[in-house]
Amino acid sequence: MSNTALITGASSGIGEQFARHFADDGWNVVLLARRQERLDALATTLESKFGIEAAVIVEDLSDSQAPERIAGVLNARGIAVNALVNNAGFGHLGEFISADPSMLQSMMTVNMLSLVHLTRLLLPPMVTERRGHILNVGSLAGYLPGPHMAVYYASKAFVNSFSEALAVELRATGVTVTVCCPGPTASEFGKIAGSDVRRLTAVRSMPAERVARHAYRAMQAGRVIAIPGFGNLLIYHALRFLPRAVARRLTGLLNRATQGKS
Ligand SMILES: NC(=O)c1ccc[n+]([C@@H]2O[C@H](COP(=O)([O-])OP(=O)(O)OC[C@H]3O[C@@H](n4cnc5c(N)ncnc54)[C@H](OP(=O)(O)O)[C@@H]3O)[C@@H](O)[C@H]2O)c1
Repeated sequence: MSNTALITGASSGIGEQFARHFADDGWNVVLLARRQERLDALATTLESKFGIEAAVIVEDLSDSQAPERIAGVLNARGIAVNALVNNAGFGHLGEFISADPSMLQSMMTVNMLSLVHLTRLLLPPMVTERRGHILNVGSLAGYLPGPHMAVYYASKAFVNSFSEALAVELRATGVTVTVCCPGPTASEFGKIAGSDVRRLTAVRSMPAERVARHAYRAMQAGRVIAIPGFGNLLIYHALRFLPRAVARRLTGLLNRATQGKS
C-alpha cells in the first residue's frame, strides 16, 4: 500500500529535509509552498533519487481560502494523503507596537489558522482508514513568552497545545499526532524573521536535516512531543523549574540582543 505525505513549507529548511526523509523511506510526497521553481527542482530530484512520485502545489497559506483550494486540488488529482506535515511558518523580530498589522495577520494565518484548517479537512479520511499521521512543527519557543517576537512565540504555543490535545482526541483511531519542537535551527527562518540565528542561538543552531530526521522517527513511533537535540531537551525540562517571570525576562533580553543583527 503506497503512502503519501503532504508537506507544507517544503521549499526550504526543515520542510525540504522532511521531504527528503519521507521520500527516502518510500513515501510519495506532495510539496507545498509559494516558490514554485524550488518545489519543482526538489520534486525532480526526489523522483529520480528515490523512485517515488512527487507532486507540487503552489499556494500561499496566508490566504485563508488556501486550505479549501488545496483539498480541492488533492481531490481532483485523486491523491489520498496519509501524513500531513504542517511545517510552513515564519516569525518576525521586533516590537509589537510598530509591527505591520497585515504581516501579523499573515503570520497568524500561516502559523495557526491554515494549520488547523488543513488538519480539519484532511483528517477524516485518515480516521476512516484507521491509519495516518499529523506532524506539526511547533517550537521550543512555544513553551515561553517571547518579548520582541510576541506573536510568533504565541502562535507556536498554540501549535504545541493544539497538537497535544488532538493527540488525545485521536487516541485509538489509528491516527497519530506529533508536535516537533525545535530550538534554533539553520534555515532561512532567521533571515526572514530579521534576526541573526547565530546570535539567537548564541551556542549553535541545529542542522535542519537533524531536526527533520528526529521528528520523522518520533512520528513513526507515535510519540506526541518530539524535541530534537539533547540541549533542547534539557531546556524543555529546565523550563518547568524556571520561574515564569525569569523566563520571560531572559527571553526578552535574548531576543533583543539579536535585533538588527541580520
Ligand atoms: N529555524 C528555526 O530556528 C526554527 C525553530 C523552531 C521552529 N521552527 C519552525 O519550523 C518551521 C519551518 O521553518 P524553517 O526554519 O525551515 O524556515 P524556512 O527555511 O524559512 O522555511 C519556511 C517554509 O515555510 C514556507 N512558507 C512561509 N510562508 C508561507 C506561506 N505564506 N505560504 C506557504 N508556505 C509558506 C516557505 O516557503 P515559501 O517561502 O516558498 O512559501 C518555506 O518553505 C516553521 O514553522 C518555523 O516556525 C523554526
